[in-house]
Amino acid sequence: MAFQNVSNEELIGRDDVNDLEAILSVTNSDQDEAIHAVASNYETIFTWDYEKGSRPKLDKLYEKAKNSQWNAQTDLPWDTDVDQEALIVANSFNQGGFAAGFDITGTPFEKWTEKEWIKLGVEMQNWTLSQFMHGEQGALVCTAKIVESVPWIDAKYYAATQVMDEARHVEVFSKYLDSKLSGHYPINAHLELLLDDIIRDSRWDMTYLGMQIMVEGLALAAFGFMHQMTTEPLLKQLLRYVMADEARHVAFGVLSLQEYYQNLSASEMRERQEFAFEAAVRMRDRFLQQEVWERMGVKPSEVLPLVMQAPERSVFQSMLFSKIVPNCKKLGLLDAADGWLRVKFTELGVIGFEDWADTGEEYQTMAIDTNSKSGAAA
Ligand SMILES: [Fe+2]
Ligand SMILES: [Fe+2]
Repeated sequence: MAFQNVSNEELIGRDDVNDLEAILSVTNSDQDEAIHAVASNYETIFTWDYEKGSRPKLDKLYEKAKNSQWNAQTDLPWDTDVDQEALIVANSFNQGGFAAGFDITGTPFEKWTEKEWIKLGVEMQNWTLSQFMHGEQGALVCTAKIVESVPWIDAKYYAATQVMDEARHVEVFSKYLDSKLSGHYPINAHLELLLDDIIRDSRWDMTYLGMQIMVEGLALAAFGFMHQMTTEPLLKQLLRYVMADEARHVAFGVLSLQEYYQNLSASEMRERQEFAFEAAVRMRDRFLQQEVWERMGVKPSEVLPLVMQAPERSVFQSMLFSKIVPNCKKLGLLDAADGWLRVKFTELGVIGFEDWADTGEEYQTMAIDTNSKSGAAA
């Protein structure tokens, strides 16, 4: 069957996925607004089929979720002292000093003293945790929408537990930012575009694809990376708790879409592939952290080509896709409709993850013992 070939320009607003100027031209224009409204037109679905467990894997996930709840206020050691600057200095020391491995001659970094480098570390952390918080609110809202729009009772039950999980995640990141870090950032424009697209789509499965597969797949990888890197015990434990929940959430997406996608036509699958690609690019764009560079008083377009050369940066960027790509493969998205998404993920340099473990069952190994919380998440 012949597909209409949609261009990158139509999907992501630029032809070359790596066009830095085009990426940086997307900025947050409503930084001072307190609320952000998105119109969305979709059907709220009631079901009169209350047969619990007719989808056994979703039912199992729901039962697991009920026993895995934790309390953001009382289950984490909030009395831990966090010295953000000292942690950054110690961290850079372990990596061989600030700007280790870079030739900064002739760049805006040449005149930087330790003070600027520490400030950069502080701002990057404030930015990263702020974006986690905003993404968590996206998950809260999207999952509430799934409760309304999914037609299956087992999925409505499960999604209801996820709404609670996401409320807790917004709460912990917000509390950590307010009580342990030193400032907030508004939502990154690329992340906002993505969340708006997900919430605006009227088809219930697109909410899953955008949120459970793409955003949460990336979050699970990013939290895992930070959990491994951080030496701050409160953050480490907080992330470990959140990851146990996120592994269930991604499994929820995989298990639900696996069934639904079996009945879609090739052209319907192509629409899902395009959506997945667009989401992947938006998420990659946001990791340029353009707002941090602006706050540091340097032009993002001047420093980013240099920053992007760092080998650990490209490893980190592609690692973010280590859950997404195998999950897309498991759902049949890579190879459906002439293998369009396989070609696109190859262009993005992330196809190498296709045979990594998918996230259909990982929640079982990621689970934490919520009955003996102290130390269980270490
Ligand atoms: Fe979450
Ligand atoms: Fe989640």
